[in-house]
Amino acid sequence: MKNLIFSGMQPTGALHLGNYLGALKQWVDLQDEHNCIFCIVDYHAMTIDYNPKKMPERITELALDYLAAGLDPEKSIIFIQSHVPEHTELAWIFNTITPLGELERMTQFKEKSAQHRKNVNAGLFTYPILQAADILLYKADRVPVGEDQVQHVEMTRDIAKKFNKKFNKTFPEPKPILTEAARIMSPTDPTKKMSKSLGDKHYIALTDSADVIRKKIRSAVTDTSQGADSPGVKNLFAILEAFDEDAAKGFKMEHKSGSLKYSDLKDVVANTIIGHLAPFQERRRELEAEKERVAEILINGADQAQKIAQKTMQEVRKKIGVR
Ligand code: AMP
Ligand code: TRP
Repeated sequence: MKNLIFSGMQPTGALHLGNYLGALKQWVDLQDEHNCIFCIVDYHAMTIDYNPKKMPERITELALDYLAAGLDPEKSIIFIQSHVPEHTELAWIFNTITPLGELERMTQFKEKSAQHRKNVNAGLFTYPILQAADILLYKADRVPVGEDQVQHVEMTRDIAKKFNKKFNKTFPEPKPILTEAARIMSPTDPTKKMSKSLGDKHYIALTDSADVIRKKIRSAVTDTSQGADSPGVKNLFAILEAFDEDAAKGFKMEHKSGSLKYSDLKDVVANTIIGHLAPFQERRRELEAEKERVAEILINGADQAQKIAQKTMQEVRKKIGVR
């Protein structure tokens, strides 16, 4: 069955391997079978401190990442959230049916408000409502994301249910799509998820050079005292498996029989990452020289997205009793 897929990422700087294996890689695969819409969620990125002068560049950088990874404007709609103001309009309406208690339960809000104590703004708190509007504006029924976003997709489902109950059936109840690699951990501290906010040593950027990748993987913590359950070893396997299942199988057998050398595993993991990122990095460099074409793709995507968004908003306005 064909699904309607929606997902997005914030333009907050270089993407890392977690973003790629947890989300972007599966977006690329989904394009062939389903109707897909992929968004650059710039309004979401305003919920933490940022430099407005750098925002345009960050949006372009993320668009380059999307396209270099293989998102294809011939197959999918690719656009910038703020180009389609219907997102914030629907978010307002959803604000009025979302209980505060549900927002207070959001793990990401708790984490981010602890991280950014000086800027705990209302937008950071209501951000899952904007995310629900992103998804439901297109009546998407599947949302490919990493594990940390599952709670937000569940909230989207609750909002859809509540709206449908109050104003008659309008929205589908979307579900997340997760990969096996939905939670890639930091090489330096494999008990924490790979994330830019932890610092340079805690993530592998998609644009890291071969040398940097080798260094980061070689110094990955494996902590042998925990045997097969060592989170660092599990993480290396998860990365390898996502790129090359057969290679992972072989190493897992060695691991079981006790003959696995971690240095061998690390060499193969590093080489596999480097091998897979090389074509991405090359395409990205080519696209850098075609920024005008990239801008055109995004404008064109916004036109296509807005047509759908306007239709939904017409229906929504009628149902809620405003016109
Ligand atoms: P973010 O960088 O937090 O905006 O996340 C963008 C996308 O990448 C979301 O779908 C996340 O769930 C996913 N993601 C972020 N970090 C990881 C990670 N360490 N492992 C797997 N997926 C991740
Ligand atoms: N909240 C997501 C993140 O931080 C980004 C996002 C915004 C999103 N709107 C979305 C993801 C809609 C999926 C669908 O990664």
